[in-house]
Amino acid sequence: MIEVSESSIRSALKLRQNDAADHDRHTSYECVQEQMACQTYLSTLIFQLLLVTFLLANKANGDGLKLGFYEKTCPKVEGIVQNVTSEKISLAPSLAAPLLRMHFHDCFVRGCDGSVLIDSNKTNQAEKDGFPNLSLRGFQVIDAAKTAVEAACPGVVSCADILALVARDAIYQIKGPYWPVPLGRRDGRTSIASESASLPSPFANIDQLKALFASKGLSVKDLVVLSGALQS
Ligand code: HEM
Repeated sequence: MIEVSESSIRSALKLRQNDAADHDRHTSYECVQEQMACQTYLSTLIFQLLLVTFLLANKANGDGLKLGFYEKTCPKVEGIVQNVTSEKISLAPSLAAPLLRMHFHDCFVRGCDGSVLIDSNKTNQAEKDGFPNLSLRGFQVIDAAKTAVEAACPGVVSCADILALVARDAIYQIKGPYWPVPLGRRDGRTSIASESASLPSPFANIDQLKALFASKGLSVKDLVVLSGALQS
């Protein structure tokens, strides 16, 4: 079994912890639903995840996240999320890869703060409506997990943590690798569509991609391996 700590992914990407004073918890109300599409990118995803694992597994843990973060406040959170994810993925296995992608897209912009889950409103176009995120899918799984967690432990567990857990559990369910997920992420309240432009673009040239990855603490080797995975 290959293990990769999600907090090590955050660390490797130099994704900052969110300042508690600047952030808030989302309620399940804010974990909105979207319709599910039906296309499988499973093999590509598994390969990508293994590569991400390979690239990031040896990076340092930390960032203040910890296993068992909700041990006292919501001890059943992982079981609840696993049950909901299992139920959803058994019905739609093709959502596993997109759920991991959603987690990746969340972390790449403003850190793993759940900002990709926030809806646009009259005064703000949110990250999820930015072009690279228009093809994200599986929001309904996050929403269902959040609703179930809220029923057990209202106002305790962040959407960002739920997204991290769902991504892990979905991949494991389709026989991908398993990795421990330290918890304690804070949800952000800021979500700006234009910031999603910082996600890797399929139209970027090599210099742009190198600079982008470097800005997240990823090397040229990381870029080559990840880009290669996309072609598989
Ligand atoms: C190297 C940088 C990357 C670039 C340039 C990139 C770009 C893209 C693009 C252009 C698409 C098609 C989106 C559409 O259909 O409109 C896509 C899909 C996808 N990407 Fe990435 N990606 C990258 C890294 C990753 C990583 C690291 C993962 C996994 C953690 C990932 C997982 C996926 C998945 C699962 C899909 C298919 C989504 C679906 O079927 O709903 N990508 N990517």
